[in-house]
Amino acid sequence: MNNDEFLCISTDLNEGQFREVRTTISSQTRFLVLTRFKGQPRAWLNVCPHQGRSLNWAPDQFLTDSDGHLVCAAHGAVFECAQGRCISGPCLNASLTAVAVEEREGIIRLC
Ligand code: FES
Repeated sequence: MNNDEFLCISTDLNEGQFREVRTTISSQTRFLVLTRFKGQPRAWLNVCPHQGRSLNWAPDQFLTDSDGHLVCAAHGAVFECAQGRCISGPCLNASLTAVAVEEREGIIRLC
């Protein structure tokens, strides 16, 4: 496994938890939002489609609503976790940019 592909250990990502992960994609440093939804890891670029800001309010700290949706800390856009689509807020129906990940042998990594 290329070290650039490693994102986190499986046990460090619980259902409904959001983690900020730094990685390298196409030789560029990128920050991802990593979560586990219905048992499967999912990842998006940590870039809000509204104004391009990071979604978190502090390093590795994300807001959620009472249904466990991801909430952008800047202006409150709400994203569902199946597709990363905005379901409420200033960028309604816009989507986060998905990043393909997989989980094998206790490791979550880039595909
Ligand atoms: S930058 Fe995310 S809601 Fe405005």
